Amino acid sequence: MKALILSGGKGSRLYPLTYTNAKQLIPVANKPVLFRVIEAIRDAGITDIGIIIGSGENGRRVQEAVATGDRWGVDITYIVQEAPLGLAHCVLIARDFLGDERFVMFLGDNVIEGGISNLIGEFEQADYNCQIVLTPVEEPQHYGVAELNPDRSIKRLVEKPRTPRSNLALVGIYMFDHHIHEAVRAIKPSWRGELEITDAIQWLVDQGLKVHPYIHHGWWIDTGKPIDMLAANSKVLEELVPKIEGFVDKDSQVDERVYIESGAQIINSVVRGPTIIGENTRIVNSYVGPFTSIYHDCVIENSEIEHSVILEHCQISDIPTRITDSLIGRHVVISHSELKPRAFKFTLGDHSRLGLI
Ligand code: TTP
Repeated sequence: MKALILSGGKGSRLYPLTYTNAKQLIPVANKPVLFRVIEAIRDAGITDIGIIIGSGENGRRVQEAVATGDRWGVDITYIVQEAPLGLAHCVLIARDFLGDERFVMFLGDNVIEGGISNLIGEFEQADYNCQIVLTPVEEPQHYGVAELNPDRSIKRLVEKPRTPRSNLALVGIYMFDHHIHEAVRAIKPSWRGELEITDAIQWLVDQGLKVHPYIHHGWWIDTGKPIDMLAANSKVLEELVPKIEGFVDKDSQVDERVYIESGAQIINSVVRGPTIIGENTRIVNSYVGPFTSIYHDCVIENSEIEHSVILEHCQISDIPTRITDSLIGRHVVISHSELKPRAFKFTLGDHSRLGLI
């Protein structure tokens, strides 16, 4: 089997972070989501992987970060998508790479509990033409939704229905045989101008081909929005194996569920888990609360922070109020200033969001 990872797209819901980086490269528990996807595919025994990337700077960043894939023992082929024309469009342009082999398609911004080995195993053993993954959700109107027949076969797939007929959402992992190539050529763009994968799968159902619904019961998160990124970070941190590779001074208190990466220093501070502190990051006279990931080369000084994701090379110092529920990009400086006038002074990128008290 082959794998196709979708790592293009606009990522507009994560502006401004995605102006300067691909959303799939944003780390969850200090590891880019895309790397987690590659590892899940490799762990399921697949090493021939195609990655869809955008034609701009973010596509080049993905290519630079993943390179040949030999770090994971996999072979990567990059497929450039000129514009984000939909998930089914990705299958269309990957035709040469995929050939007639069965494949798994995995959205590069999805994180799923427990990997995909079981899923792949089931699809490899069976004669299904397609397998989709469904999971019960609370607000199905925000997802692609599957309606099942009484015999559990698929009746209909609807993209973001106003009145959902079931609570079963489509998870961003799909398995196909060669019939999908005919399907993506047969469908027309939707009202939003995209070739929808739900329409292509509906085409398979309408042709009487076997589309099997696999119900996933663990957690699954699509990291499209900042709040989802924080949720994914919390879930992955819960599974983190604690380790102290860096330095903790005698005046600090570090919980059991904390990972301090090499070169990191904790000085006169309290760190509550589950939390990860990245390589060469310094935490000085500060409190880092649960569900926080601080990436490499940051400095947190005289400040308190929890339930947040901080990317590399940030400096946060002398902030009198605790920072929570925050997603902070690279090279961000947040500091207290004594310079008059006493006021908030911001330099913020387009689409930044600030919550002040
Ligand atoms: P989406 O989250 O649906 O789209 P997006 O990444 O453009 O984000 P936003 O809605 O915030 O602007 O995409 C799901 C995944 O599929 C994501 O990893 C990007 C990828 N993708 C492509 O590679 N090509 C595409 O044409 C589209 C629509 C998405």
